[in-house]
Amino acid sequence: MKGKDLLSIADLDSGEIHGLIDSAITLKRGGRKALLEGKMLALIFEKPSLRTRVSFDVAMKQLGGDTIYLSQAEVGLGQREPISDVARVLSRYVDGIVARTFSHQSVELLAQYASVPVINGLSDEEHPCQVLSDLLTIYEKKGTLEGLIVTYIGDANNVANSLLLAASIMGMDFRIASPQGYGPAEKFLVQGRKTLLTQDPKQAARDADVVYTDVWTSMGQEAEAERRRMAFSGYQVDSRLLSLAKGEAIFMHPLPAHHGEEIAEGLLELPQSVVFDQAENRLHMQKAILVKLLGV
Ligand code: CP
Ligand code: NVA
Repeated sequence: MKGKDLLSIADLDSGEIHGLIDSAITLKRGGRKALLEGKMLALIFEKPSLRTRVSFDVAMKQLGGDTIYLSQAEVGLGQREPISDVARVLSRYVDGIVARTFSHQSVELLAQYASVPVINGLSDEEHPCQVLSDLLTIYEKKGTLEGLIVTYIGDANNVANSLLLAASIMGMDFRIASPQGYGPAEKFLVQGRKTLLTQDPKQAARDADVVYTDVWTSMGQEAEAERRRMAFSGYQVDSRLLSLAKGEAIFMHPLPAHHGEEIAEGLLELPQSVVFDQAENRLHMQKAILVKLLGV
């Protein structure tokens, strides 16, 4: 680990990621264990959440700890008071902080000033907890990570950035198909070793082991929704696109999904879809992350 925090997937090396996957598998098999007895986790959320909030909350409680949820209306990050002060005050009360912020800089500032671990629960740049859980899901389904072809169709958003970095760290071949102007930013591309960039979803999907997509309009971009719907109109994942991938390929999506936009209606019902296993694995991976960062 680069420090006490998990802000980017690039804070971890491949050995540490394999360690988290092994730990999550053990915790998934082992049920409840009081590994975080008496520990308190603050959950600061500037945006809505189902999976991240509930999985961290349940993970802490099943491990013997507890959580306190703080919405933007309550804590007013950077508005009611400076982020640096929030970080220093919370560090006197709690043992760790999960933060979902609009700006990645906010989560970095929290980490800079907090003396307790800060975990990025999604920023505009990355979603490391999602992608760590996804690596667990891929590992469970495929028995390996190294050498797999992972294809992402759509917007090069927070999830795509973390996936691109994770693929590079874990020795997976990453392909991303996005319309012009919606591809990965240079700073992620320079870190991602084997990345194929294309505007052609079919080229990207051919022979893939994993086909992954996410919403075209992320939280905070709602004003651009119509423009994005037009830009991404040829980028919907449907059964025809999936049929270009390997016969045993899996389909992944972090959820929430916009049925009829980035995925065809009914896509989640196909046997290739592992999206609810992904959602479940958020809980097991969240536990592994918490035990690594907050455990004694
Ligand atoms: N996938 C995910 O992070 O979902 P939530 O936004 O509901 O937390
Ligand atoms: N890219 C999406 C992911 C939600 C889990 C968003 O940021 O809204």
